[in-house]
Amino acid sequence: LEIAESTNSLLLQRSVEHDFPDQRCKQVVAAELQTGGRGRRGRSWLSGLGDSLTFSLLWPSKCTVHALSGLSLAVGLAIIRALTRIGVQGVALKWPNDVLFDTRKLAGVLIELHGDMLSPSTVIIGIGLNLKLSGGVRDRIDQAVTDIAGITDHMPDRNHLLALLLRELKAVLDVFEQQGFQPFQEEWMRYHAYQDRLVQIDFPDGTVKHGIASGVTPSGALQINTPAGMLHLNSGEVSLRGV
Ligand code: ATP
Ligand code: BTN
Repeated sequence: LEIAESTNSLLLQRSVEHDFPDQRCKQVVAAELQTGGRGRRGRSWLSGLGDSLTFSLLWPSKCTVHALSGLSLAVGLAIIRALTRIGVQGVALKWPNDVLFDTRKLAGVLIELHGDMLSPSTVIIGIGLNLKLSGGVRDRIDQAVTDIAGITDHMPDRNHLLALLLRELKAVLDVFEQQGFQPFQEEWMRYHAYQDRLVQIDFPDGTVKHGIASGVTPSGALQINTPAGMLHLNSGEVSLRGV
């Protein structure tokens, strides 16, 4: 599409209205421009015309909500694998949904579910990946960001990169559907941005905790070693940052 408010919202709406030909098919919507791109918890994803890849995949998953808890981590790995194919190195993963380069945010993943909470009928996987952000967009983002143009001399063709991302996503989802996050655990840890580092965790109720990030479990929970013992963070509703 040339323009969409949010590709995630569009696919969510389609799945609510059953407005697609075959509910068993995966579908992808990509937009040149999003006017209301969304991140987690009501936050915004900002981009300008053609300066990022912004797209969503509707995945008619058979997974339970519980099994889906590691999905955003596995999707992060699909992004890393696609970037590796175009020669981009040095990218890292921030639990649960960000791709970083040198602590700057390069890409984000937004997973939303539609249907029964125990067994959702569809999963919407949204990805925003910065290609070449204009100064105007950068100035409006309230954290350190980067783009592909800033980290490689060889700017990839956008369509080629989108195709690579979709291919890697399909490979990851095929395995995830059968075996969950466990087969990706070791690979994810290799890219973990905060492994063995002191981090701060902000909980939705305002509580703040500190500890050493010590990897993820086979289900994708983040383990934090605190003075009070090991914390397992399952919910993507907490925010993490290095200190
Ligand atoms: P966390 O995921 O740990 O809660 P986060 O700050 O990355 O932290 P998200 O909801 O994942 O929060 O992402 C939304 C945030 O991403 C926005 O609040 C903004 O800071 C940042 N952001 C918005 N647009 C872009 C962009 N094009 N590139 C990088 N970051 C962006
Ligand atoms: C995040 O970092 O919180 C996730 C950002 C996800 C952005 C993508 S862009 C395509 C899709 N449509 C949206 O509105 N959001 C996702």
